Amino acid sequence: MTFINKEETMNLSNLNLPPKGVVAIVGTQWGDEGKGKIVDLLADTWADVIARGTGGANAGHTICVNDKSHVFHLMPSGILSGKPCYLGSGVAFDPEVMRFEMDELGGLGKSYDYLRISRDAHLVTPIHTILDRVHESKAKSGKIGTTGRGIGPTFTAHYAREGLRVVDLLNPDKLWEKLNKYLHAHTAELSATRIAVKDVMQADEFLTQFADEKNIIDLERMHQAYVEFGERLRPFIADTDSLVRQAVEDGLCVLLEGAQATLLSIDYGMYPMVTSSDSTVAGLAKGVGLRESQVDLCIGIVKAPYTSKVGGGSFPTRLGSAADDEIYSGTTPNINSTDPGKQGAALRRAGKEYGATTGRPRDCGWLDLPLLRYALQFGGDVMAMTKADVLDGCAVIRICTHYIYRGLDYDFGDSVLKSGDQVDVAFGDDDLLGHMEPQYQEFPGWQGDITTIRSYDDLPPELLDIIEYIEADVGSKFAIVSVGPDRQETIIR
Ligand code: IMP
Repeated sequence: MTFINKEETMNLSNLNLPPKGVVAIVGTQWGDEGKGKIVDLLADTWADVIARGTGGANAGHTICVNDKSHVFHLMPSGILSGKPCYLGSGVAFDPEVMRFEMDELGGLGKSYDYLRISRDAHLVTPIHTILDRVHESKAKSGKIGTTGRGIGPTFTAHYAREGLRVVDLLNPDKLWEKLNKYLHAHTAELSATRIAVKDVMQADEFLTQFADEKNIIDLERMHQAYVEFGERLRPFIADTDSLVRQAVEDGLCVLLEGAQATLLSIDYGMYPMVTSSDSTVAGLAKGVGLRESQVDLCIGIVKAPYTSKVGGGSFPTRLGSAADDEIYSGTTPNINSTDPGKQGAALRRAGKEYGATTGRPRDCGWLDLPLLRYALQFGGDVMAMTKADVLDGCAVIRICTHYIYRGLDYDFGDSVLKSGDQVDVAFGDDDLLGHMEPQYQEFPGWQGDITTIRSYDDLPPELLDIIEYIEADVGSKFAIVSVGPDRQETIIR
């Protein structure tokens, strides 16, 4: 959550941030670890420029203005810092979402003058959005549970060499040529699934305006709308990747804002239940025009000691199911319940674990060290623990230390995984993850409210034990412990 009008300052000297260079913030789990709060802190205090390089409007973060929350998806979290904010070439850019968010910020009296959008970023069009939603609605099993923001089809088009880019918005003839060359074929695909397309289009006001009489996208209308987007966005379109490289060369402090998280990475995540960009630090650096080796410090955000997840796929330490969330409406589930469904629901309530983009209840479960060990291989020089306060009053905290594999023999070529084998580090495979039986170590929890604590040594000894256990296990330190959503509810070690 981003708070504005903050007066409090914070001593970051213990963080050992580089005096200049590049710091990246990435999630180490399935997203929603609370990256926005850490980005916000560093954007205001350390950074000269802020850049996003992955994902698109599938992300979501809350900006709180005058005590009212507003959810943004594409606008970088750092926008209220008043510093240059770049959306890099690796972002899937949806001009309609950006128009909406610009209007919303403007309506709140906030400036976005310093926003720059990469001319090379790939465009999400109504066709990509419809394809995403139709594919999901037609999937019989193994639904990925996408956010429906057109992300998968946009990156598919990118790699199929059929992508449209932001710069095309400024060149109407080229745009028309590409719409016909690349997107026309999709209209044929969509006409084969007319009913699903009609449902998807009618449920969305923006999409409805492009429907022809057969409920297929009218390319001429779309072309006109996209040329108009180009006119509006012209002052913001730039070669942001060169600007980021220049900022590094000039010795500025460059903050890279990750979207989604390692376990959702197309390259390293729990395939295929992933998003369609590389949401590790490698993808983030590349998506803003840098090399990973130019990142001086990568801060891996860990929601701990618990985990949450939205969408389909395996989650070994899940407590109950978010699909049952409604059962508990009107009740106050107890965090110490012996019923996993109730305990999961209690975590969901306490942690406000409802998707910022889709509003979906998130599944909640215990911290999973085989997954964290796996994720940290791809980035996380130091860690930041967020939302520790959610477990206030939990009598027994369980941490998954390893798995026992309970599946058929699985041949890796150089080894075979057999039922009953102990697994300490997860594999990047959702199906295998679904056959892992979590083994837990129990830790006593703490009583009372930790949100008022400001010094590391004043944290309850039970929480310190857990922090130190995790650190020793994964070989990385928690440089930040967040004990509440507000800026001042942050402990820098
Ligand atoms: P997509 O990115 O919309 O294609 O969705 C692919 C998967 O990533 C789904 O399981 C989504 O729920 C998940 N996902 C995408 N963006 C986020 C996010 O910002 N936070 C958490 N999960 C996300």
